[in-house]
Amino acid sequence: MSHLSEAAVAKINEICDRYVEEKTPLMMILSDIQKEYGYIPLEVQEIVSSRTGISVAEIYGVVTFYSFFSLMPKGKYVIGCCLGTACYVKGAQQVIDKFSEILGIKPGETTADGLFTLDALRCIGACGIAPAVSINGKVYPKMTVDSVPKVIAEYKAAGGEL
Ligand code: FES
Repeated sequence: MSHLSEAAVAKINEICDRYVEEKTPLMMILSDIQKEYGYIPLEVQEIVSSRTGISVAEIYGVVTFYSFFSLMPKGKYVIGCCLGTACYVKGAQQVIDKFSEILGIKPGETTADGLFTLDALRCIGACGIAPAVSINGKVYPKMTVDSVPKVIAEYKAAGGEL
């Protein structure tokens, strides 16, 4: 807890307080913290635990189960490659492998410059345009291995403008 600022601790307490009337507040609390900070490290889980009485083990289990929660800070651009069945049969594995190769990170990791996070996703509801890739919510249809370098270069060149 040592490296959390007083303001951050106060904010987390305030988020917990929003849901004191709720019978099952955990998902709401964690969603708000994820939105506010972009990730939910162990120190934060400990505060939520002490405020709610829910064990850290249970909180950790929820944070690691749902892909929209993160234990680590995410990159500026979050690249989500769908590996659902429809995308998989259209070559999604090769697409994510290409992202992985060029960025030098495995799925779930973030580049050292903090620019890119690579995530493997389950079906994102865009099976008709498989294989689908989502970057900060923008969906790229029918992604090909050959177009991966160009997409990465565009984001790098934009330097935060996309
Ligand atoms: S399987 Fe990829 S969008 Fe449905």
